[in-house]
Amino acid sequence: VRLSVAIDGPAGAGKSTIAKILASRLNLMYINTGAMYRAVTLKALENNIAPESIEALCKLTDSMKMYFLNDRLFVNNEDISELISTPYISNNVSKYAAVSEVREILVNLQREMSFKYDVIMDGRDIGTVVLKDAAFKFFITADPIERAKRRCDELLAKGIEVIFEDILQDIVKRDYIDTHREINPLTKADDAIEIDTTGLTINEVVGKIYNFIHSSISSME
Ligand code: DC
Repeated sequence: VRLSVAIDGPAGAGKSTIAKILASRLNLMYINTGAMYRAVTLKALENNIAPESIEALCKLTDSMKMYFLNDRLFVNNEDISELISTPYISNNVSKYAAVSEVREILVNLQREMSFKYDVIMDGRDIGTVVLKDAAFKFFITADPIERAKRRCDELLAKGIEVIFEDILQDIVKRDYIDTHREINPLTKADDAIEIDTTGLTINEVVGKIYNFIHSSISSME
């Protein structure tokens, strides 16, 4: 039986940073599902395919061979990790992530990955849809201002100049779209453990989750 850890929560809550560290400590493959929606957005914009062009969008998504290698996302053998982390992609991704046909293709891909590998997967619908039967589910939150601060720091560290108000506005807007969309909206799974990371360090959050998983596995053995 494969081990699956599901991490959901809003944009900027720290999911990917936390999941990456846990992946290396628990020897799991880290699957960043947001990156997959971003990749579709990147290629759709490059090819002038609007979110409304369902058929073209599905054809495009089907043609993208996606895989993760050391936390980096490759599409048709190209590492696109930098290209998808820009504010331009962040501002457009929600529209493409709301297309049910795109979600269906990506959810299937994500499930296939979880059959092949022990995974830690982060996103919005992992505990509720993609890995409904995951042994471990966490719902990570933080207040919007703290999340906007973290995003700004993250982008600045990459040399991308941003304005705090813009980032905050983007986060609030994305929260709204992500929680109000018709299919697979962001919600906490009933059996997920919620962790509010406001005022907590990354290490504190990682420690909480690691201890929980580690002690559960130890008591199963
Ligand atoms: O986590 P992120 O910011 O990279 O996610 C990018 C967008 O993709 C986010 O606005 C919501 C969407 N998303 C989704 O709908 N379902 C997922 N499992 C992951 C991300």
